[in-house]
Amino acid sequence: MNSGFHLFPEQASTTAQHLDHVTIYLLIVAAFFSTLIFAFIFYFAVKYRRRAEHERVWAEESHGAITLEIIWTVVPFLLMMVMFVWGANVFFEMSRPPDDAMNIYVVGKQWMWKTQHLEGQREINELHVPLGRPVRLTMTSEDVIHSFYMPAFRVKFDVLPGRYTTAWFDPIKAGKYHLFCAEYCGTLHSAMIGWIYVMEPAEYERWLAGGPAGESLASGGEKLFQERGCANCHRSDKPGRCPNLAGVFGQPVQLTTGQTVKADEAYVRESILDPSAKIVAGYQNIMPSFQGLVTEEDLLQLIEYVKSLAKPPQQQQATPPATRAGRKQNR
Ligand code: CUA
Repeated sequence: MNSGFHLFPEQASTTAQHLDHVTIYLLIVAAFFSTLIFAFIFYFAVKYRRRAEHERVWAEESHGAITLEIIWTVVPFLLMMVMFVWGANVFFEMSRPPDDAMNIYVVGKQWMWKTQHLEGQREINELHVPLGRPVRLTMTSEDVIHSFYMPAFRVKFDVLPGRYTTAWFDPIKAGKYHLFCAEYCGTLHSAMIGWIYVMEPAEYERWLAGGPAGESLASGGEKLFQERGCANCHRSDKPGRCPNLAGVFGQPVQLTTGQTVKADEAYVRESILDPSAKIVAGYQNIMPSFQGLVTEEDLLQLIEYVKSLAKPPQQQQATPPATRAGRKQNR
């Protein structure tokens, strides 16, 4: 797989193919015009070299050529527009994970990658994913800035402390692929590496089932929600002093300031760590901050719990998540 000389890393995702096509186009255009320009430089250098007085011939002066000027304006313009439109297209594709993507959480820390599946499986410096299903990564860091880099999928995205970034890829080939940290993050930066395993769906199901049976992120979050006393105020059975969280995730939330924000991962995170930042309309600023009391991993669990509350009840007790991946696969 990694033997021999390769101009490009292996193409193991749909994005890798699309991105490489743009890159090849850029390279061809650049190479063609560089060659052309250098050829002309040498040609003219020789043709108009300094000559002895008796060898000189005086050419007729030129006074512009409209056709020529139009050609060297329009042709580069079109070539550039192709770069722009095509490049923007691939950029949008890379920045928008498909709706049916499976979610994986990534936490970077000096100097390791921790990955978490919604079903509860945790891995260190490894990530197992099924073939043929897009994967959306929600990433954060416990300390400094890292960068999650998987050359074969053409994914390289900064992982920042204090916020979530997302990246996605759609693997098209089973195999074992490199994972690097691509942002200098301290002494063992170069050792912050790992492997991505893209598995056949059936094999992936076996892997999921084979690991130590952990609880799902959402149920871990529910436990935390009880333990930390969140449930005392955020009640689901009757109106409490704090907003009922059922059906909140993914929806717009009206704030006391009159603004509306979307309840996404970043909003839930902020509401836990810095509750006074955004107060929901109709409520008081009474929640204490949980800064320092919950870890990044706790936060991910709580977010998954809040997400699970947003789903209609029949979906909540649908088949266990482990088999959900397999079912989508068979569509
Ligand atoms: Cu983490 Cu470099």
